[in-house]
Amino acid sequence: MNILFNETTKTFHLFNEDISYLMTVLRNGQIGHLYFGKKIHHKEDFSYLLETAYRPMTSYVFEDDRQFSLEHIKQEYGLYGTTDFRHPAVEIQQANGSTVSDFQYKDYEIMEGKPKLAGLPATYTESSKEALTLIIRLEDPLTHVILELSYTIFARGGIIARSARITNGGDSDIQLTRAMSLCLDLPDCDYEWIQFSGAWSRERHMKVRRMEQGITAIDSIRGNSSHNHNPFIVLQRPGTKEEQGEAIGFSLIYSGNFLAQAQVDAHDVTRVLLGIHPSHFSWKLDPGQSFQTPEAVMVYSCQGLGTMSRTFHNLYRKRLARGYWRDRERPILNNNWEATYFDFTEEKLVSIAAKAKECGVELFVLDDGWFGERSDDHAGLGDWVPNLTRLPGGIAGLAQKIEDMDMKFGLWFEPEMVNKDSDLYRSHPDWIIRTPGRHTSHGRSQYVLDFSRNEVVDCIYQMMAKLLTEAKISYIKWDMNRSITECYSAALPPDRQGEVFHRYILGVYDLYERLTAAFPHVLFESCASGGGRFDPGMLYYAPQGWASDDSDAVERLKIQYGTSFCYPISSIGSHVSVVPNHQVYRNTPLHTRANVAYFGTFGYELDLNKLTEKEQEAVKSQIAFMKKYRRLIQFGDFYRLSSPFEKNVTAWMCVSRDKRQAIIGWYRVLNGVNQPYSRLRLHGLLPDMPYRILVDGIERKERCWGDELMYLGLVTSDGTSGEVPTDIVPPCDFDSRIYLLEAVEEKGERT
Ligand code: GLA
Repeated sequence: MNILFNETTKTFHLFNEDISYLMTVLRNGQIGHLYFGKKIHHKEDFSYLLETAYRPMTSYVFEDDRQFSLEHIKQEYGLYGTTDFRHPAVEIQQANGSTVSDFQYKDYEIMEGKPKLAGLPATYTESSKEALTLIIRLEDPLTHVILELSYTIFARGGIIARSARITNGGDSDIQLTRAMSLCLDLPDCDYEWIQFSGAWSRERHMKVRRMEQGITAIDSIRGNSSHNHNPFIVLQRPGTKEEQGEAIGFSLIYSGNFLAQAQVDAHDVTRVLLGIHPSHFSWKLDPGQSFQTPEAVMVYSCQGLGTMSRTFHNLYRKRLARGYWRDRERPILNNNWEATYFDFTEEKLVSIAAKAKECGVELFVLDDGWFGERSDDHAGLGDWVPNLTRLPGGIAGLAQKIEDMDMKFGLWFEPEMVNKDSDLYRSHPDWIIRTPGRHTSHGRSQYVLDFSRNEVVDCIYQMMAKLLTEAKISYIKWDMNRSITECYSAALPPDRQGEVFHRYILGVYDLYERLTAAFPHVLFESCASGGGRFDPGMLYYAPQGWASDDSDAVERLKIQYGTSFCYPISSIGSHVSVVPNHQVYRNTPLHTRANVAYFGTFGYELDLNKLTEKEQEAVKSQIAFMKKYRRLIQFGDFYRLSSPFEKNVTAWMCVSRDKRQAIIGWYRVLNGVNQPYSRLRLHGLLPDMPYRILVDGIERKERCWGDELMYLGLVTSDGTSGEVPTDIVPPCDFDSRIYLLEAVEEKGERT
């Protein structure tokens, strides 16, 4: 890894063994983009890549030059005015009303490691040798606004992390109306755009489309990153597959409003922009003040989507997630939500917990309904004090009972919300987000607290910290069940109302930061009606997130498969729930529900007392199985093998770091008759190593070399015809299998 700067050509070259990133100072002082992709040889001069030519209907910067047009030059951080007509990366309204900016190169700095982004989640380094950071400083000579573009290249992998910082170095106020985290001009438009979109309970479905002249975009202006779109896109070359082809993933480490867009211009240049959504955004900078954008991470892969995902997984698991739980196997939990909803007593909870303990569960989680006057979703949010009618011993009493069973206790909160029927609202009706004189909408009878105000965040912190101090709480599920409407803060002046959405998220991060610092052993799981805020920003504070309120095993195949493109398996909250499923009313076999939920944090969202004895025995085996293999699953290398978006069969696998162990999940949605033969080509194994193969715990008589499994494939056929021998469990709809591969010590013991 290195960052070279050539003083004569003023060219920067960031590279490691995988990638090169090239940019140069342009004749007008702006920074031009030259290249991002597979590593290339270093040269002093790459200026030939600045393709300029005379073109009709183009505007030029210099009187003596009919070629230098920013419309045609690829840039690092596009600006409005000065001849670029594409959407800019930054826009600043100045005292005279002008929005033209002209940032000119001043100097640069290279440092080892990576500086922190104050108040914002970001990737980090643990040693100065893990990364190098380049900061390029530019200044607008008229306004004296300073722009700092930051680029971190990590020692390994195709990763560049970027952000921008804008400082008002002038002597009058300015309004920032757009400040993207990343702008990347790619040389052509021969890409397919991939997004991960959906809605509540069908989050992160993979959608692919060809790009064309014009704009392709996804966004959120809901105040949360949203169920509808994830702040992550991929541009892939046509023909790219899991293990081959070129792809660039773009991920925003942010949990609020965002925009991800690719604009293909008239000459097939593609400009990618990623950052805070400019709509409903402005930020006033008094002289001397700065604005720091969130961080965006780009991952380039020339070995397909699989390598891109594994690069994100490693980075986000090890250098975005933090704290005590980062590298630890996640506890197997039982959450009471789908078991009881609001209808519980302490006695009922204790009985659910007791059965869970008997089956091997490690953590019992009490969900919504334990606080204030909450007996349904109309009241109580904001009053984070236990309801003593329901829980006579309070949370401390219940937590102690659970601890006495030798289990950990976890608790649900929705810190950002309030019901009008609550003591908090009655004392502070002005603390909700609402626009004066306008109707205030609700979602699930709840209102959003104005987290842009420190006193609001402080008050919630005090209530939560008190409980965490008094009771033995080992886990918090932090929920967020509505989006922001009528965004406005009573605490800010009119010219700062555009700051509320971002200040709100900064308040959320502040509360997370304070709680995780004060209670470092508590495991946080983020949630927003399931996967409404499943984003890298959250991952910095909460190493796992409830991926979706849809707990149906078949639906989860798409949700978890889509989620895996950016997020590590250790971050995907996944549980077994009852049948008929509460979201789609589908009946799936218990083994399939577990086989899907294994590929995440694992747990149960039901009352195990209500299962038959046979099912309870099965649950005991599932839990024992997960305890044995969760390190492999949660911290191994993940490979997608067959897509639920394309096929009836979904398959994925995790391989241990030493490649001696692997686990494969195989799922078939609909059964068929007299089915075709099938094999799954595996990945990541040691070609010269023989492996024993266990199918649902039963060892196959043949052993296979790693190369056989990777190049011929694992045979997965079953005849599935009308008559099945009596000693075989017939396959069914929604069936699944778990294959385990274990390296055999004595080499050559091939049978
Ligand atoms: C949201 C969550 C659920 C559950 C309920 C409780 O919908 O996603 O898991 O916690 O809230 O109200």
